Amino acid sequence: MMAVSNLSSDVIPDSVMKANIAEIERVSLREVADVTDMAGLQGLRLKYLGRKGVVTALLREVSQQPPESRAQWGKSCNELKNRIETALEERSSVILASGASASLLKQAIDVTLPGRTLPRGGIHPIVKVSNEICTIFTSMGFSIADGPEVETDSYNFSSLNIPKDHSSRDMQDTFYVTDDVVLRTHTSPVQIRVMEGTNPPLRIISPGRVYRPDWDITHSPMFHQIEGFVVDIGVTFGDLKGVLLLFLQKIFGEDTILRFRPSFFPFTEPSAEVDIQCGICHGSGCRSCSHSGWLEILGCGMIDPAVFANVGYDYDKFSGFAFGVGVERVVMLKYGVSDIRHFFENDVRFLEQF
Ligand code: DAH
Repeated sequence: MMAVSNLSSDVIPDSVMKANIAEIERVSLREVADVTDMAGLQGLRLKYLGRKGVVTALLREVSQQPPESRAQWGKSCNELKNRIETALEERSSVILASGASASLLKQAIDVTLPGRTLPRGGIHPIVKVSNEICTIFTSMGFSIADGPEVETDSYNFSSLNIPKDHSSRDMQDTFYVTDDVVLRTHTSPVQIRVMEGTNPPLRIISPGRVYRPDWDITHSPMFHQIEGFVVDIGVTFGDLKGVLLLFLQKIFGEDTILRFRPSFFPFTEPSAEVDIQCGICHGSGCRSCSHSGWLEILGCGMIDPAVFANVGYDYDKFSGFAFGVGVERVVMLKYGVSDIRHFFENDVRFLEQF
């Protein structure tokens, strides 16, 4: 600010006064135009218009000028002061406005961006298929029954005609809680519990968890079964075949073909295992069905008179059929899952596919 520093208490020649005013105006207006924040702007206000400011000092000089030119310079100085004042005001509005629009921009929502979706939960495939099976049977008039997962030896084995120390116990590896208490190895004990408390006719379905000490790609220590049974006067193996055909065709498709293979279970006589024809090779044999053309799906049979005797039913009057199906096995065959452990590792990428 050279022009200002030239000021002195002596009378200043008009030409210098004029140059000073022009120089102060040029420099101050440029500085105001360049400032970008309110603190900087306040600094300039003090620098030019404050008590010790440049323009204030200039006005003081004016008062020293001879009377004939004093009014003229006073007017010029005041005009300069007003122009700086105006420039400061205008700049202040611009800075305020740009600050506001910058913060608005920062808060703005870009409505063209894709939304943030929350991951959606789903029903576990085992529960889903288990529910599906129950619905098929309830639509045929079956009722749903429940039983405990910690079961006595008697319900789990003896009453189902599987005596202690009999080789038929070897069919089912067992978790023992005590000598007489086990984790149920199948849902069949629900047959006994229901029959003990109710008289025929009975049409029951019972889904639930069962336990066996096995762990490989087709066995899990905990898995799911659905037990089904019917007791009435005149129930035949033909009824069993009809019910299972309808059930399996609903699950695997209308053109599903069944095969009943003679088998043995202590609680049914006669007993059978049911296979469905392999849907991939249609019976000619492929890798999925171990080249047999068939896939084993469930066990069944006519309820053994010894079981009826254990619950006090008259086996000359009543007959019945029963079956037990593994839910994991159904889901694996229906969806082509090759390792049972996928169901319990709960990797969402696996579960999401159902
Ligand atoms: N409880 C048998 C098992 O877990 C399955 C079964 C077979 C159940 C035949 C039945 C039946 O009701 O009649 O291996």
